[in-house]
Amino acid sequence: MGIEFPNRVGLAAGLDKNGDYIDALGQLGFGHLELGTVTPKPQPGNPQPRMFRVKPADAIINRMGFNNEGVDHLVERLEARRYSGVVGANIGKQKDTPVDRAAADYLICLEKVYPHCDYVAVNISSPNTENLRQLQDSGHLRELLEAIVRAGNDHAETFGGKCPIVVKIAPDWEDAALTGALETIAASGVDGLNATNTTISRDAIAGLPHADEAGGLSGAPLLQPANRVLKKCREVLGDSFPIMGSGGIMSGGDAVAKIAAGADVVQLYTGFIYNGPNLVHDCAHAICKEYAHVE
Ligand SMILES: Cc1cc2nc3c(=O)[nH]c(=O)nc-3n(C[C@H](O)[C@H](O)[C@H](O)COP(=O)(O)O)c2cc1C
Repeated sequence: MGIEFPNRVGLAAGLDKNGDYIDALGQLGFGHLELGTVTPKPQPGNPQPRMFRVKPADAIINRMGFNNEGVDHLVERLEARRYSGVVGANIGKQKDTPVDRAAADYLICLEKVYPHCDYVAVNISSPNTENLRQLQDSGHLRELLEAIVRAGNDHAETFGGKCPIVVKIAPDWEDAALTGALETIAASGVDGLNATNTTISRDAIAGLPHADEAGGLSGAPLLQPANRVLKKCREVLGDSFPIMGSGGIMSGGDAVAKIAAGADVVQLYTGFIYNGPNLVHDCAHAICKEYAHVE
């Protein structure tokens, strides 16, 4: 994507939704930070409780629902940052915007964050905004990505520089639908992919406390399903398409497995909650040891 990452381990979207902690998070050794998801206007998200630890499974279920202060707040925080590392801005649609008008929300956010970050992530895969995942269906997807790529090209001229655009997808797919979506993504002109967001499946945690809460499941039980989707993405998109890998990394070994499955860089969220900042170093070091022959 034209970005030089200082290491392959980033912070996944959703932990710093508003960009309020960029400088602090930037001190923890991440090779990049992905901020957001933000929407055009502030919104409160779902009623609490909306986040649950499923401790015996090293997992989290969340249904936050894009609680955020709005894109203008994020832009202010980006402008005020001292952190000079790689920053992505993850954008979404307002809860009450119908799916067939979603593009307008993404375009508002895209234009505002475009000159202030190193890449933009288009989130069409949160399970917690009603019907959002419909944007992954072929017709909607083609239309949305065409509009976003066209606007991105205009902004590159206006702002005098290109900001790459990444699409973040879900792990929950029928094989044929995934292949179709990937072909649409490849043809659209977007610059990269993030696989994957949280899963709506509960197969791996059936019977555990909180297993029946609505929302997206992340952490250890997501590693295998996310890696299966990631492998398919690499197969369909080819060797040179930039892919960010997210989902279930709880150890350095998991980070290595994520790279082996096809990711160019990886991201952490739930593992960071359970294991703390040492995990960032463990993952970066394990990847270096495995792939760059660096101790
Ligand atoms: C509490 C919580 C909030 C999240 N919010 C967002 C979000 O706003 N946007 C987004 O793209 N992903 C969001 N995610 C998904 C993460 O970015 C990540 O893709 C997913 O959790 C899988 O990685 P993990 O298993 O390391 O947590 C959220 C995850 C959690 C646990």
